[in-house]
Amino acid sequence: MTKILVVVGSARPGRVADKVVDYIKKETDTREDVTTEIVDLKELQLPFFDNELAPVSPDYTITNPQVTVWQEKVDAADAVLFVTPEYNHTLSAIQKNALDSLGKEWADKPVSAVAYGWSGGSLAVATLREVLSNLKADTKEDIAQLGFMKDLNPDGTLLDESNVAAQIKATIDELA
Ligand SMILES: Cc1cc2nc3c(=O)[nH]c(=O)nc-3n(C[C@H](O)[C@H](O)[C@H](O)COP(=O)(O)O)c2cc1C
Repeated sequence: MTKILVVVGSARPGRVADKVVDYIKKETDTREDVTTEIVDLKELQLPFFDNELAPVSPDYTITNPQVTVWQEKVDAADAVLFVTPEYNHTLSAIQKNALDSLGKEWADKPVSAVAYGWSGGSLAVATLREVLSNLKADTKEDIAQLGFMKDLNPDGTLLDESNVAAQIKATIDELA
């Protein structure tokens, strides 16, 4: 049984991310090989990175209790799945900050994403791959990229349900 931590990378009221989480749950609820825990970065309230040392430093010590909560969730997960909107051709600040806030926890951690945006969130995915490579994570190939006016309406409702389901299934298959 693979424990997947699903991380919501948007803090907007009315965010599309909540609908994407529903589509992920629809897939994971049918499976017996995965369990999920959802962490909403809006609720987690991590500080903007404010430690004296970089997380990769051998002397890095977490001083903020919310960062400890985040560390424990990532540590306890077999895999991490980011719900990734594209903002200004890259990751949302809240997601990048969550990535920056930990160091060794990412090493060899299986990580993937369900991205979305006008080009399927492709530029956010490109940044995500670069960041995860630097963090030495085990970044998966099958990152779902849901395109507005192709797979989803801009409000997140479904346009091509079978393609959305197939992309999410492929992403979960690779993590499981
Ligand atoms: C600050 C900001 C920048 C955005 N930049 C992009 C972009 O570069 N590419 C894109 O496809 N969509 C962009 N969008 C549109 C988002 O993809 C869209 O608002 C989406 O719903 C965001 O996900 P969320 O609702 O879960 O936050 C941007 C939205 C915001 C708020």
